Amino acid sequence: MSSKDKRKLYREFINWVEANNLLFLRFQELADCLEKYLLNEVFTSAQSCKLIGRKFLDVLDIKTNLNYNDPEIVQAYTVIHFLDRYHRFQMVYIRLIEMGIFPCPPYAADILDIGTGPAPALFAISDIYSLLKMFGRKNNIPEFASLRFQTDYVEPSESFRLWISLFSELSYSKEIKGVDWEFLYNVGSFEDFSGLDLHELKLNLRYDLIEELQSKQWREDDNDLLNAQYIIDHVQTDWKSKFRYDMIVFSNFLTELSQVETLLKEIRSAGYALRNRGILVVVGGRENSYPQIYARVIRVLKERLYLRNKTISKCIEIELQTNEMAYSYNSNFGLCLRKFYSAILKRFEEFMVLDCIPKEARRRIMKTINAQPSERKWGIHIFKKVSWRRRDKNKASK
Ligand SMILES: C[S@@+](CC[C@H](N)C(=O)[O-])C[C@H]1O[C@@H](n2cnc3c(N)ncnc32)[C@H](O)[C@@H]1O
Repeated sequence: MSSKDKRKLYREFINWVEANNLLFLRFQELADCLEKYLLNEVFTSAQSCKLIGRKFLDVLDIKTNLNYNDPEIVQAYTVIHFLDRYHRFQMVYIRLIEMGIFPCPPYAADILDIGTGPAPALFAISDIYSLLKMFGRKNNIPEFASLRFQTDYVEPSESFRLWISLFSELSYSKEIKGVDWEFLYNVGSFEDFSGLDLHELKLNLRYDLIEELQSKQWREDDNDLLNAQYIIDHVQTDWKSKFRYDMIVFSNFLTELSQVETLLKEIRSAGYALRNRGILVVVGGRENSYPQIYARVIRVLKERLYLRNKTISKCIEIELQTNEMAYSYNSNFGLCLRKFYSAILKRFEEFMVLDCIPKEARRRIMKTINAQPSERKWGIHIFKKVSWRRRDKNKASK
């Protein structure tokens, strides 16, 4: 399919999603599901409200030393951030589709979310791919209909991992207008971004496979080793596509400049792990240290050429009209979010424990409920991997 045809289909896809209000229906379903879960299973006593409510300010500020293993922090985080972030990513992915850079290679896509938390970016991607597949089936477009996607994530917090698993179960039980939302593949392969070298993991995998194959052969001599290497490098080559991604997401993970400075090697490694035309999306705030964080990430990703046997590649930043995105608190999505916050505060009132929420946190939540300001804004930077063939030195010297 030519890229022109693909763009046309993407446009039709967006029209179909909008005409059927599919993103909002899904958002509403998740809001409803989260609210019921919180009211029926979490905020069921004055004590549980107190324990979680007093953490609201910590998660509003997203301090870097937050203990994300603490189940109360995790519950507080999902109350405050999950729906907002989920909708942001609905919008981000639609924007990528409009721009024609959404990762939809023929038939398969691999996505990695770094510091996934409650996985808003993955819930949204899973939904978008489900819709693309459904659109493909309705319109007989094999590239979309047979699309396979695999999500993976990096997350050290066991409490977040449990939450993702629980909320996936809860939220995929319903069907809307015949859309089968696909269950979020929810076993994150990596715990810590710090020290994560995806290329090294791939080389280790190759080595293990060679060793395994060699050990199956009856004699251990050089020939066996060469033979095993040949088979793994040229015949059983599935490993070559492992630890490579069509999209990598950093959503509110890089929150302080000092953190970026300690993770430069890992950020470069993420760039290396992108496939040709893969994209890396960095989403975060707009104020405080965010401009410096973005500038540093841009420099780190752009300064590096990645060399492979036959190709050279680099990450380029995609020029956007603006690096800000926003939605209105008066849109359907905004109204639904405000209603959700009101329902949570009402539960605190019923147990007469509203005061346990720090005053500043209550003030900020009330501002959102009252749509002041009227918009929710965030920052976004997008990078794309571009590769080209290396010149053959032998040919060049002839
Ligand atoms: C501010 S939250 C962002 C969560 C989510 N991406 C979002 O947009 O709402 C930061 C997340 O990064 C995770 N995290 C902290 N240190 C990490 C590390 N070294 N490697 C990977 N994730 C880490 C935390 O556990 C937490 O889930």
